[in-house]
Amino acid sequence: GENHDLAGRRIVVTAGGTREPLDPVRFLGNRSSGKQGVAIAEAARARGAEVTLIAANLEVADPAGCDLRRVSSALELQAAVTEAARGADAVIMAAAVADYRPASISEQKIKKDGSGDGLTIELVRNPDILAGLGHAPHDGTLLVGFAAETEPDDGRLLELGRAKRRAKGADVLVVNRVGWNEGFASDDNSVVILGGDDEIVTRLHGTKPSVAGAILDVVVSKFAHTAED
Ligand code: C5P
Repeated sequence: GENHDLAGRRIVVTAGGTREPLDPVRFLGNRSSGKQGVAIAEAARARGAEVTLIAANLEVADPAGCDLRRVSSALELQAAVTEAARGADAVIMAAAVADYRPASISEQKIKKDGSGDGLTIELVRNPDILAGLGHAPHDGTLLVGFAAETEPDDGRLLELGRAKRRAKGADVLVVNRVGWNEGFASDDNSVVILGGDDEIVTRLHGTKPSVAGAILDVVVSKFAHTAED
């Protein structure tokens, strides 16, 4: 691209969806394809940034020119992003991270139990990785979070997004509606980008690359703003 407004910047992007293992052959997962995160990584690269992509089970091709680190579970993603975030100019957390993981991983494939019709699996909370970064000192590292919600009502969607941005200590939050046919696997995305004062910075429906561009425009404007302080 011609626009090199991210030259000299180091940007970490997480993409995809985590898989939480149950046994050697099974996992709990989600429908995130990684399209939006990969589009952000590619766009940041094209605008001159040095990009580390933490990739969790992508269903799209790996982007070229990025430092790619493959992970699968939330705990693996946490280790990789915590390391990569050190000294980064921005961390963009587009990955869909499981809130819970199985309390234990069976060493052998879980067998059908003859005695009943059901199976109960105990889950434990995963760490909130973004909140962990947001609540630790992160001077000079802009934190961008996502909130994928199934909430149909627009006002309620924004309310959830604002509460989430504050709870996690993110500088920018991208809110998008997801569902059976929206968001995750789709080529398009509808987003509202919230800034640090909870104001709406951008509202956009477009292709995932165009949404990626809008998110990076906000990142660039926040960089410029910090530089002037
Ligand atoms: O709470 P929720 O999952 O809606 O938050 C979404 C945002 O938080 C995303 O940016 C996601 O990458 C991040 N997240 C995280 N660790 C979790 C759950 C979500 O960093 N355990």
